[in-house]
Amino acid sequence: MDRRRQLPHFMNLPVHLFLLTFLTALQAVTWSSHAAHSPSPEELLLGFRAAPDSAVSSFQPLLSDSSGNYSLGFLRVNPNQLSLSVLHVPSSVPVWSANTTRLARWADSTQLFFNGSLVLSDARTGVFWSTATIGDRVWLSNTSNLMIQKLDGVTILWQSFDFPSDTLVENQNFTSTMTLVSSNGLYSMRLGPNYIGLYANFAGSGRGPGQIYLKHRAMEAKAEIVEGQPIYLVLKSGGYLGMFQNGSIPVDVQSFNTFQQNVSGIRRVRIEPDGNLKGYYWTGSSWILDYQAISDACELPSSCGSYGLCKPGKGCSCLDNRRDHDSGECAPAGNQLRGDFCGAYDSRVRVVRRSGVELPFKELMGYKNMASIEECEGACEGNCTCWGVVYSNSSGFCYMLDYPVQTVVAVGDESKVGYFKVREGVRKKKVETWVGLGLGLLFGAILVFGGVMGLGWYKWRSRGVKGYLEEEGVSGVGAYKDLGGASFRSIELCEK
Ligand SMILES: *[C@@H]1O[C@H](CO)[C@@H](O)[C@H](O)[C@H]1NC(C)=O
Ligand SMILES: *[C@@H]1O[C@H](CO)[C@@H](O)[C@H](O)[C@H]1NC(C)=O
Ligand SMILES: *[C@@H]1O[C@H](CO)[C@@H](O)[C@H](O)[C@H]1NC(C)=O
Ligand SMILES: *[C@@H]1O[C@H](CO)[C@@H](O)[C@H](O)[C@H]1NC(C)=O
Ligand SMILES: *[C@@H]1O[C@H](CO)[C@@H](O)[C@H](O)[C@H]1NC(C)=O
Ligand SMILES: *[C@@H]1O[C@H](CO)[C@@H](O)[C@H](O)[C@H]1NC(C)=O
Ligand SMILES: *[C@@H]1O[C@H](CO)[C@@H](O)[C@H](O)[C@H]1NC(C)=O
Ligand SMILES: *[C@@H]1O[C@H](CO)[C@@H](O)[C@H](O)[C@H]1NC(C)=O
Ligand SMILES: *[C@@H]1O[C@H](CO)[C@@H](O)[C@H](O)[C@H]1NC(C)=O
Repeated sequence: MDRRRQLPHFMNLPVHLFLLTFLTALQAVTWSSHAAHSPSPEELLLGFRAAPDSAVSSFQPLLSDSSGNYSLGFLRVNPNQLSLSVLHVPSSVPVWSANTTRLARWADSTQLFFNGSLVLSDARTGVFWSTATIGDRVWLSNTSNLMIQKLDGVTILWQSFDFPSDTLVENQNFTSTMTLVSSNGLYSMRLGPNYIGLYANFAGSGRGPGQIYLKHRAMEAKAEIVEGQPIYLVLKSGGYLGMFQNGSIPVDVQSFNTFQQNVSGIRRVRIEPDGNLKGYYWTGSSWILDYQAISDACELPSSCGSYGLCKPGKGCSCLDNRRDHDSGECAPAGNQLRGDFCGAYDSRVRVVRRSGVELPFKELMGYKNMASIEECEGACEGNCTCWGVVYSNSSGFCYMLDYPVQTVVAVGDESKVGYFKVREGVRKKKVETWVGLGLGLLFGAILVFGGVMGLGWYKWRSRGVKGYLEEEGVSGVGAYKDLGGASFRSIELCEK
């Protein structure tokens, strides 16, 4: 394989071992003299171990590339958790993150170690992530590729370029077996046999890639796609996303604003938390946007949030006229959650109808032909996995939504109508309220009991301190009363 030969061959094992020993010794000396702010090393060897430092507020570097432009380390997220990430140091933009099963805590019990595998683990909950390799060193290339290598410096056992997160850098190979996922987990990019697809996962995991909202087919202007052979995608320094199959001639070119211009800085593309795919180049002090797959905001899968209405050129409002987009949510809490209306929660459903609307990516959605809006609505009304329909009276197309309603687009044609289910109060809350009330009673009873016991004890120990004890008893009952009051208030809200 080509990519196994990225490192020079002149380093035979003895020379390398000598250099290694020498460099390690040198580093040890340098480190001990710069105790506190030592630069991070350029390789990690067997036995390496690190834990997050509680004094670090954003990023704790552990390994750096030869140029100093990239660094692997602990990145602080949701204040007390961490992700193992590679950062572009001058801009602090993460270009890669380990795909852990869940986020590790920023605490002493979390550890990163290298025992042949690079492993992120927690003393209490076990291994979060591992490269599952038997390697000799961890190394970061000056193109941001994190690698586990053998000591020969040639054999690459694992590389982060094979496991991209939300970003591709120049010359990184994106193949049909890979997925690029936005940092919020909602959107992804995948390759089909002859296209790039962007997918929205509004319905929840375990249901495939989700709804496709952008499909870019290869133009095949310079080379044709041979059926049955996978394609791959590469971000080229010439300022384009090239789709390739088996040669150096692209089967498709998506050019950026700086196509074939001299841009000295590096480039990257990222699938953003809003579902867009954007390209940037680095000027030496900032990232400049020079490509976006979706240029019209209303064409994004959820530009105005759930139950939002996007008016081209005019911004966002809510589908439901009774709600104000500026004041936050366009639907009661619980409608943004993944799920359906089939469960035992017995939520009450209200219907919002709106004419002059259509789905932003209807060309890519399945539909059924129906004779009337009544028939289309009827198919959704009795179907508990259906969240709504959009019907076009002129074509007779009935589009069914099997995920929580997102943003729809306002159009001039009033014969295009939408029917949307909205979850109102969810009864499960009431159960929680009663549990809360029960706990309140129990808590109060314990306090009273404690008070009585205390009273007995004081009476037994010494006489004449009655006043203090009565006060304690009263405060216990007071706490119970408050809790009860709050519970009743929320029941009233539910039944309103
Ligand atoms: C970072 O990379 C740029 C090229 O993008 C290079 O010119 C610069 O020297 C690098 N920075 C360092 C500190 O090596
Ligand atoms: C490295 O540590 C992990 C986690 O403790 C363990 O599963 C794995 O077997 C170890 N690998 C080696 C080569 O010791
Ligand atoms: C990155 O490393 C390669 C050799 O591996 C070198 O040719 C290139 O100039 C380096 N680039 C930077 C920006 O340091
Ligand atoms: C991370 O892992 C999960 C589960 O294995 C997978 O579904 C998801 O696509 C992965 N994310 C990326 C960016 O590959
Ligand atoms: C990218 O992947 C393709 C298909 O797997 C392969 O033919 C090509 O050599 C790879 N290129 C690089 C630079 O790794
Ligand atoms: C590459 O594709 C061309 C057609 O575009 C085909 O004729 C050729 O055999 C392919 N080469 C390989 C190595 O698969
Ligand atoms: C790009 O820059 C190089 C050197 O900086 C120069 O030789 C070349 O003519 C430039 N090309 C264009 C298209 O500006
Ligand atoms: C219910 O709606 C889903 C889409 O939400 C659809 O796939 C399914 O076929 C519908 N079931 C019936 C019985 O119409
Ligand atoms: C829908 O189309 C039918 C005939 O195709 C027409 O009679 C009816 O008036 C239309 N309704 C609306 C609301 O445009």
